[in-house]
Amino acid sequence: MKTLVLVFHPNITESNGNRYLSQEIKKYPNVTVHDVYAAYPDGKVDIKTEQQLIEEHDRIIFQFPFYWYSAPALLKKWLEEVITHGWAFGTNGDKMQGKEFLPAVTTGVDQEGYTHEGLVKFNVSELLRPLEATTNFVGAHYLTPFVVHGIGHQSDEQLTEKAKEYVSYALNPKLIAA
Ligand SMILES: Cc1cc2nc3c(=O)[nH]c(=O)nc-3n(C[C@H](O)[C@H](O)[C@H](O)COP(=O)(O)O)c2cc1C
Repeated sequence: MKTLVLVFHPNITESNGNRYLSQEIKKYPNVTVHDVYAAYPDGKVDIKTEQQLIEEHDRIIFQFPFYWYSAPALLKKWLEEVITHGWAFGTNGDKMQGKEFLPAVTTGVDQEGYTHEGLVKFNVSELLRPLEATTNFVGAHYLTPFVVHGIGHQSDEQLTEKAKEYVSYALNPKLIAA
């Protein structure tokens, strides 16, 4: 199984959570970590490069910090531009079919906030429904999201531990669809 980690963080060098996660997972074989913001500082996504990366991998991880209960803007742009007619859907558009899509999300708000009774009133899985629906639309398999809540309250030791949990979860070939 080949795994592609698409990291959508506007400034990974100033990140805590996402930096720990991507630095840990990139140590493993058959893993490609692709920092999409760093690849396209002008925001112009190279569609062919991105489509080729998808075609070469089996499991695609969408890793990002939660920004206003969604992903940073470049992920939306990436979805709009890379998922094209004739490639991902429509006539002969089958290139995402059978791939596994796994969201990996960090949040500033603690886990208790992401409950129906809490501050946010929704949990992360509910807020990720558009990505889940997109996964369904292109015939990919949606895997249960990996979430690290309350990044600001995590010590370096805890983040190191979370990064190890991330790897054992995200690289488990037997992960089943959500
Ligand atoms: C523009 C912006 C919007 C944010 N929106 C949310 C949000 O909606 N929910 C949340 O829990 N945290 C939010 N945060 C906090 C980030 O999710 C948090 O700082 C990030 O997950 C930490 O990861 P990092 O250390 O890799 O940057 C936001 C941060 C920024 C800069």
